Amino acid sequence: MDLSEILKSGLKAIESANDETALKSAEREFLGKEGLLMAELKNLKNLPDEEKRVKGPELNQAKITLETTLKNRLQAIELQAINQKLENDWVDPTLPGDTFTKGHTHPLYQIQEEVEQIFQEMGFRIIDGPEVETEFYNFESLNVPAHHPARDMQDTFFIDAPADPEEGRLVLRTQTSPNQVRAMREYGVPLRMIVPGRVFRNEATDASHEHTFDQVEGFLVDKDISIAHLKGVMEEFLMRLFKKPTRVRFRPGYFPFVEPGMELDMSCPFCNEQGCRVCKKTGWIEFMGCGMVHPHVLKSGGVNPEEYQGWAFGFGLTRLVMMRTGINDIRYLSGGDLRIYEQF
Ligand code: DAH
Repeated sequence: MDLSEILKSGLKAIESANDETALKSAEREFLGKEGLLMAELKNLKNLPDEEKRVKGPELNQAKITLETTLKNRLQAIELQAINQKLENDWVDPTLPGDTFTKGHTHPLYQIQEEVEQIFQEMGFRIIDGPEVETEFYNFESLNVPAHHPARDMQDTFFIDAPADPEEGRLVLRTQTSPNQVRAMREYGVPLRMIVPGRVFRNEATDASHEHTFDQVEGFLVDKDISIAHLKGVMEEFLMRLFKKPTRVRFRPGYFPFVEPGMELDMSCPFCNEQGCRVCKKTGWIEFMGCGMVHPHVLKSGGVNPEEYQGWAFGFGLTRLVMMRTGINDIRYLSGGDLRIYEQF
């Protein structure tokens, strides 16, 4: 083969190589130790001097041409591989992402958090208590002995388990009030606290009754405490909760653990006392039970009633949530229908 033929087919082999393997074999064939060009170079010494002078530089030039082409082709092949990879890995950042639905706190607990925040700002601690209580804490310690008719005020779920010799049968707490005594025993006095929590009553359910609902207990014991403090605290609390001045009024009411016992009404924040559906056209809403802590209860908590006094209250968190949200059937609150909760 003459040199121009070798060059031509060498260039063709290199140019047409599509990957590194093909390129390597072209390199071997033309530029390798056993390759065609090398054979020509080896053969050079057998030629007459004149031809050597001509062919020598020609061979050299051919070698340089092939080597340069090979280098360029290798670069092109590598670039192609990179482009291919980019092409394969390509993502479109303008495509819409995967959507997922984000949950949020149940409206009941949204309002509970607000209530806690307000009382915390007024120096009350937030306390938690057991949902399974003993008869002692749920009733006796609160001045409701076993034979007392006040037990019938709250239909009770009893737990099918052996009674405690000292604290009696296990019950699902019917109220958050047992924590008055628990807290006095645990933290002593003076004491300012609220206990938000779930309570249970064995009742037939309807739009305004559930076997499970939430209450907030409030409790303040110190020296020289009067109902005036309760009035001040509740007006402040309701004003912060409803974000407008709210009035309160007291009516007599009976609860065994307070003396005197009272009901507190608040002026209707939804119609500014003009009369609406929420306040049943009266301008007032029955908000909670309250009163001065009964000496028996203070004694149950290990506190001397001669030295300390205080007040307590209990309101229905569930009812408050229904009022604020306009959810008019209590069963919706625990029904698990997301269409209800998604509105808040
Ligand atoms: N525990 C009462 C109930 O569930 C509510 C209540 C009334 C709590 C008066 C109090 C109170 O602390 O002083 O009906």
